[in-house]
Amino acid sequence: MQDQIISVLKSQSGYVSGEQLSRDLKISRAGIWKNIDQLRRGGYDIIALPHHGYQLKNSPDKLFPREIQFGLKTKKCGQHILYHDAIESTMQRAFQAGLDGAQEGTLVCAEGQTRGKGRMGRRWVSPKGKGLYCSLILRPNLPLSDIAPITLLSAVALCQAIKEVVDLSPQIKWPNDIFINGKKVSGILTEMSAEMDRIQFVVVGIGINVNNSAKDLIDVATSLKKESGKKVSRVKLMQALLCSFEGLYDQFLEEGAPPIIEQWKADSLTLGKRVRIEDQGGSVEGEAIDLDAHGGLMIKDKRGVIVKRMSGEVVFLN
Ligand code: BTN
Repeated sequence: MQDQIISVLKSQSGYVSGEQLSRDLKISRAGIWKNIDQLRRGGYDIIALPHHGYQLKNSPDKLFPREIQFGLKTKKCGQHILYHDAIESTMQRAFQAGLDGAQEGTLVCAEGQTRGKGRMGRRWVSPKGKGLYCSLILRPNLPLSDIAPITLLSAVALCQAIKEVVDLSPQIKWPNDIFINGKKVSGILTEMSAEMDRIQFVVVGIGINVNNSAKDLIDVATSLKKESGKKVSRVKLMQALLCSFEGLYDQFLEEGAPPIIEQWKADSLTLGKRVRIEDQGGSVEGEAIDLDAHGGLMIKDKRGVIVKRMSGEVVFLN
């Protein structure tokens, strides 16, 4: 009922009478009032004026499904949302939902995480109400060998969404960290469940430092608020991300990896730089010259030999 009330209030700019709400939503005026009261407690600023009715002045910047889905122009991504105020990790929750049969595009999001997971066993600090923490479930009908571009397209989607919502120029540090002005603002963690060579589902986990203040960030990290000097709407960012993601994902399913790789290259912070790649197999130094068709990084070492890496940590050298 609260979703319906908000939807009516959002779609009308002026006041909506209690009588109209009661008639349209088929509940008593007292029922309307009770729901309005609960919505206010949840952070909605709703004015009630005698003889006029109700008007929505402001919505909270909470990742409530009704907020994300209002005006969302996607067909799959975010059309089904599992929302949590606090959770250990959206990855775990999404993985379980994937095993339980959640449909493609299901989004798990949380206001805060108590055990956010990063790449390579690291933690992702996830203070409540500050960042965007979400995991998206995908069910691409592809062999295991073809899914690497999903991580690349996630990074491109993040860049597109950030550019749409804030006046900033994010770039991608291979493989999929988003940097602004030399500091990390966002990270992506991709996990999957597969049988033999067939993918059951993929979970793309995305963490963005949105409204974290400078004092809450470690030296190598930044937030959109810190870089832009303005508070950023997490709901708008989430909507932009879902739209960009779906567009790129559909393009990938139709046209394959090449257009994704081209877009990744256009947003790259890594290509053309002198780097050291550290992974379990040791480290390689040289110039990052290109991405291969699967998203592997090609490095030309000092002997001119081209070495390829599919995973690892990039360190920029001078
Ligand atoms: C990285 O190390 O850069 C990847 C960070 C990924 C963090 C996100 S936040 C939402 C989702 N849930 C998690 O526990 N991790 C990912």
